[in-house]
Amino acid sequence: MFRLSVAGLLTVSAALAATSAAPVTFNKDVLPILQQHCQGCHRPGEIAPMSFMSYTEVRPWAKAIKVAVATEKMPPWFADPKYGHFANDRRLSQADMNTLTAWADGGAQEGDKKDAPPPATFQDGWNIKPDMIVEMPKDFHIPATGTVNYQNVRVKVDFPEDMWVVAAEMRAGNSKVVHHARAIVLPPQSTWLKNAKYGEAYEEGSEEMGGAKQGTDLLGKYNPGLGAQNFDVGGSAKFVPKGSDIVFNLHYTSVGTPQTDRSKVGLVFAKNPPQKRYWMSPGTPAAFNLVIPAGDSNAEVVSEVTVGIDGAQLVYIQPHMHLRGKDYEVRVIYTTGETETVFKGKWNFDWQIGYELAKPLAVPKGTRILTVAHYDNSVNNKYNPDPTKDILWGDQNWDEMQSGFLGLVFDVKADANKVFLPSGPSLLPRGKFGPTLATVQLPVK
Ligand code: HEC
Repeated sequence: MFRLSVAGLLTVSAALAATSAAPVTFNKDVLPILQQHCQGCHRPGEIAPMSFMSYTEVRPWAKAIKVAVATEKMPPWFADPKYGHFANDRRLSQADMNTLTAWADGGAQEGDKKDAPPPATFQDGWNIKPDMIVEMPKDFHIPATGTVNYQNVRVKVDFPEDMWVVAAEMRAGNSKVVHHARAIVLPPQSTWLKNAKYGEAYEEGSEEMGGAKQGTDLLGKYNPGLGAQNFDVGGSAKFVPKGSDIVFNLHYTSVGTPQTDRSKVGLVFAKNPPQKRYWMSPGTPAAFNLVIPAGDSNAEVVSEVTVGIDGAQLVYIQPHMHLRGKDYEVRVIYTTGETETVFKGKWNFDWQIGYELAKPLAVPKGTRILTVAHYDNSVNNKYNPDPTKDILWGDQNWDEMQSGFLGLVFDVKADANKVFLPSGPSLLPRGKFGPTLATVQLPVK
């Protein structure tokens, strides 16, 4: 006891000495933290409403910054630290939080300009250095009010040979109205959007949409806070077959005034033939059979796939739900019966971020990937569009989804159509609620 309290006293006085010796200043202490953790979004042209590049810009926000980091509202990050480690973990260290707090409390001083690090440099408008940029050839017009169904625009690229992509970044032309967007690879033999005119926008379900979306791979994704996507995990890259085009799949939201958008995707190609293929699941596992009962404040919905190829590794997890989503968990059930929770996090509709596993996780053939989500369909959920309705799967925000974009790497010769086979609860007919964990065959403990 005695030793402990002496040690405590020593730490406190050491901290006091440090504070009185050198006041925390913007140039010396705060700017390096902002460069590393905040300016990615807090700079002109990015998604945050205010820029944190200079002292003059940041000074008025000193108190707000203290509160935002203390409450962990900023930087946005929703994974429960008890499960998994992530390469793109945005959380601040305790030391950095203390520095920002001490700066605000100490009068938010500027300090000596000589102490400032060189300004962080950002590629003009991009967070990657694209070798190729594919843009929608014409503006899409978003009406001032009303619902805009999902739009699909086929853009002619006709890749001259098989291509391998190591990074992609999708950028909204007009981030006020682009709720989220995807750039999807359309292989030459695909019947999807076969009769579509290049550059024209088609609604989901329209005649020109043609055959099923099956067998397509996501190249780029945009939603606020997601940033660029890296497909190089130990020498992997994303495959784009010769002759492919790109489909922009866009979800727009009206904002009260007429708007236009022309979104684009930037691609970085592999310099050498890749060792492995990086594949992004097209929103699977998914619970197309979900039912979320009216008024239920903690409705459970599960979905499942079984890995159908050898040698795959899980590298990326991005949950997807709508306005009633609360939390999302990914469990891996190995053929040995061992079960592991590899991700658990709060759901936040405004921040649909993805989590890059710090270490690729082997998921041998036969491994089941089970996701468990909860929803608040009660009046207490202030985002709930209508607590009086049973909710089913659907595209619009007032419908729901329970799906995941999972990134896997595997041998370039493996059959991508067999990576994920729906299984367990995802094969059940729609019930009155769920499907819940009660329908899942869990290994006997
Ligand atoms: C991934 C993008 C992103 C990153 C990284 C980020 N911010 Fe933000 N920040 C935003 C956006 C967007 C908003 C406005 C929407 C909101 O408040 O949620 C915001 C809002 C804020 C606010 C206002 C909060 C309020 O309650 O009004 C503060 C303060 C802030 N950020 C500080 C920071 C600090 C400090 C960092 C770095 C340690 C940081 N942010 C990192 C995107 C980001």
